[in-house]
Amino acid sequence: MISFVNEVVLITGANSGIGEATAIAFAAAGASVYGTARNESTLAAARASHPRIHWVKMDVRDGGATRVAVEQVVAEAGRLDVLVNNAAGASAASKSMAIVFGSAARA
Ligand SMILES: NC(=O)c1ccc[n+]([C@@H]2O[C@H](COP(=O)([O-])OP(=O)(O)OC[C@H]3O[C@@H](n4cnc5c(N)ncnc54)[C@H](OP(=O)(O)O)[C@@H]3O)[C@@H](O)[C@H]2O)c1
Repeated sequence: MISFVNEVVLITGANSGIGEATAIAFAAAGASVYGTARNESTLAAARASHPRIHWVKMDVRDGGATRVAVEQVVAEAGRLDVLVNNAAGASAASKSMAIVFGSAARA
């Protein structure tokens, strides 16, 4: 297995499905994993199911919220190495998320 020790990974829509499986795999590979869920109830359930993952509230359709969430990750973890933009398919929101990530990576 490839090691992701000391890598900071952000996964959108990590509370279920492919995003959840990806978060578990990155955590098993040693990464510091930040997962997003989009409302308080799914956030609470995700925290209970996966306490080793850091959870952040984010709806990828909300450009302001994505910026705040990425800034929160960078402030806590010191940097952001990998974005897995899993939520919401190949939408315009995904493009905006990638732009926010690009800004954080250059900061
Ligand atoms: N499953 C497949 O066969 C397949 C095939 C090709 C591509 N994909 C793509 O792979 C990705 C994951 O698929 P999946 O089957 O695991 O999907 P899923 O079970 O629907 O999970 C998507 C995750 O994204 C979250 N999400 C959806 N809209 C969001 C938004 N606006 N903001 C933040 N989070 C949002 C969901 O949160 P909630 O729990 O709140 O809904 C959920 O945690 C998707 O982008 C999908 O298009 C999947």
